[in-house]
Amino acid sequence: MKEMWDARYLNEEYAYGIKPNAFFKEAIEKYKLNGTILLPAEGEGRNAVYAAKMGMKVTAFDISEEGKKKALKLAEKENVTINYKVGDFFDLDIIKQTYKSAALIFAHLPVSLLSKYHQKIADLIEPNGFIVIEGFSKNHLKLSDENPSLGGPKNIEMLFSKESIQKDFPDFEILLLQEINVNLSEGKYHNGVSSVIRFIGKKKEA
Ligand SMILES: C[S@@+](CC[C@H](N)C(=O)[O-])C[C@H]1O[C@@H](n2cnc3c(N)ncnc32)[C@H](O)[C@@H]1O
Repeated sequence: MKEMWDARYLNEEYAYGIKPNAFFKEAIEKYKLNGTILLPAEGEGRNAVYAAKMGMKVTAFDISEEGKKKALKLAEKENVTINYKVGDFFDLDIIKQTYKSAALIFAHLPVSLLSKYHQKIADLIEPNGFIVIEGFSKNHLKLSDENPSLGGPKNIEMLFSKESIQKDFPDFEILLLQEINVNLSEGKYHNGVSSVIRFIGKKKEA
């Protein structure tokens, strides 16, 4: 898995482009997200750099060393600083602090880690803080089978449903939870009408 991502990110070109994900950008604007933000599986840093440019204090992680290099290169180009760690989430020191928000943008993790990581991320969010998610839905699989330009995992268990998100984030008030077809245009790997789950949750008071 790590080798596949490192190979993809070795290219000069940014696999998902350098613009932030559109839903993430909208969520920042609509809910005026600020302060600390955690970005799991952040790849080449397009969302991290955007959040930092918006004045947020960004912590990101991924398994790809090559992703980190590209993210830091983009951050330098845009004159911002991000804290980007590589490794197993549970081994990283970034789990020792809390965050005002987290955004999981196409953060499709291995099945064995998915719920465990979601629940830990939920724990790290402060009361009244936010979680923003955009990821491919289980119904995306038949679309990506027909059109490989859409991208996304081929293992249905790595894909999301409204129920799986609700189950993993019970301590969040649901501000938005929908399954929707969107026309993605993100670099070389996410292109065309795709089925996604979108979630914005606000952490309830303890
Ligand atoms: C589709 S990319 C999305 C990257 C980024 N969030 C974006 O939207 O541009 C999925 C990312 O998940 C990362 N990933 C896969 N397994 C992971 C794991 N166990 N821990 C952290 N990141 C992982 C990959 O390295 C890859 O960067």
